[in-house]
Amino acid sequence: MKKEFASIVYQIWPRSFKDTNQDGIGDLGGVIEKLDYLKTLNIDYIWLSPIYVSGNYDYGYDIDDYYDIQPEYGTMEQFDTLISEAKKRDIGIIMDMVANHTSTSHEWFLKALESPDSPYRDYYFFRKGKNGKEPNNWISLFGGSGWTKISDDEYVMTMWAPQQADLNWENPNVRQGITEIMKFWLRRGVAGFRFDVINIISKKEGLPDKNPHKKGYQFADDYINSLPKAFDYLQEVVDEVRKEFDFFSVGEGMLLTQDAALRYSRINDPLLDMMFHFELALIDCGPLGKYDFRKLYRWTIKDFKSIVRKWQTDMQDRDYWMANYLSNHDQPRHVSHYGDDKKYRVESAKAWAMFNFTLRGTPFMYQGEEIGMTDCKLEINEWKDIEAITDYKVLQTMMKLPAFIAKKVIQKKTRDNARTPVQWSGATYAGFSSVSPWIKLNPNFTEINVESQANDPDSILNFYRKLTSFVKDHPVLTFGRWTEILSDHPHIIAYIREDEHEKLRIIINLSDKPVTFSLEEPEGTDILTTGKEGAPYNSKMVFAPYEGRISEIKRNES
Ligand code: NOJ
Repeated sequence: MKKEFASIVYQIWPRSFKDTNQDGIGDLGGVIEKLDYLKTLNIDYIWLSPIYVSGNYDYGYDIDDYYDIQPEYGTMEQFDTLISEAKKRDIGIIMDMVANHTSTSHEWFLKALESPDSPYRDYYFFRKGKNGKEPNNWISLFGGSGWTKISDDEYVMTMWAPQQADLNWENPNVRQGITEIMKFWLRRGVAGFRFDVINIISKKEGLPDKNPHKKGYQFADDYINSLPKAFDYLQEVVDEVRKEFDFFSVGEGMLLTQDAALRYSRINDPLLDMMFHFELALIDCGPLGKYDFRKLYRWTIKDFKSIVRKWQTDMQDRDYWMANYLSNHDQPRHVSHYGDDKKYRVESAKAWAMFNFTLRGTPFMYQGEEIGMTDCKLEINEWKDIEAITDYKVLQTMMKLPAFIAKKVIQKKTRDNARTPVQWSGATYAGFSSVSPWIKLNPNFTEINVESQANDPDSILNFYRKLTSFVKDHPVLTFGRWTEILSDHPHIIAYIREDEHEKLRIIINLSDKPVTFSLEEPEGTDILTTGKEGAPYNSKMVFAPYEGRISEIKRNES
């Protein structure tokens, strides 16, 4: 097993992490300033969401220049300082590699526009329109058409925002270009990459019209999702880079299937070390995607458990390694999404953390979750997320939703929920900045902030510190077998983690009600608990709302 598998990764979305030059925007100085704080969470890597030069239509995921730092975030010199300061603390920096598309202000795109014979035209998908319409009926993953008009009868493929043009990976120069970008950053000392939507880099040959009945995300499967060439192209690029560098790699697997996952992240011969799947993130959405509200965003713990079971039980004997996460910059805050962000906020933040950190795989956490940050209600004029803004219109025009319902749907799912500034203290602007931040600050910062939790032994923050240190001391939690117990229980998720050295039993009440359950195992010794010392182990145990506990069943001292 690669040693990197036994890591804890912390994701930073820099714009909202910490501002040090007082312009209301987070920056590299802020990341450097907080390295000691981050180390108290026992992390091994920081995944930095994009910090390259960007027009900010999709806040960094529309890259103008992969070889320089966005001036708002700092300078290359500061970046080098970040690398070396992080190294001193045994923290590696993981860059976001956005290789499916560049921005339409990127040099390649601008050169492509210069002339119809430009060799750069084949870096992208430029196509003539058909009968006065787009070249095909594909749709953007942000809603609306998957094409952007660039002249009277010509379009370019933009599967995200109109300012993000899809790269044509068929072209060897594109693959070479990405290889060089990766080598550039590895030479500067980065530890690896998180590959943005890497499973959609190959598009169905001939770009045929999609089946008109395949709407929303459904269409991705047949036309862009993990097509055979995606594996070949990615293999070529990583093989080339691996000739010179060893690096950490995690891929974003939008709508990843298990079959595809097994081709990306084989333990013994990984294309990428690990992948993120989306099944938990989309548990409460309809098949058309995040804004498909027809399930009314309802889900049950049983649904949740069956997804977990599928990825944990089925995959462990199949040479597969995976990345686990509950939150990131694209999803609502998990304490609001899956837990209770009001009455049991503290308990549920701890219970969900217990879950995420005790699964087989590599755990990822997202800035602010360690203090239990919650979703924030933003009014329309406060929205920054391009996906939300586009989909607000799509919900009204294509789905015929009244504006007030469309607004509610967006408020529930907008990525802005995860992007409000990190709440460092109860001071003005939450200690994030001394000026008004670029995006609304969650008004609950006076109550929920790092400063107030730092010295409280029962805080969520200190629970994360204990839990992460516990995970580091118990490799069984990373690598051990995962065996579910109490599988039919409607409120509790419970499992045993076991290797040749020890066996731990994890039991978590994911509901807001006290629950009872029975276990046949003999009494165990509690070694870590989120709640009050619970009832002694007997055949009818009682669990408080959102209580998680790890019990030691047996330890082999040899
Ligand atoms: C996935 C990223 O996580 C998201 O933030 C971005 O908007 C899209 N990919 C497009 O790059």
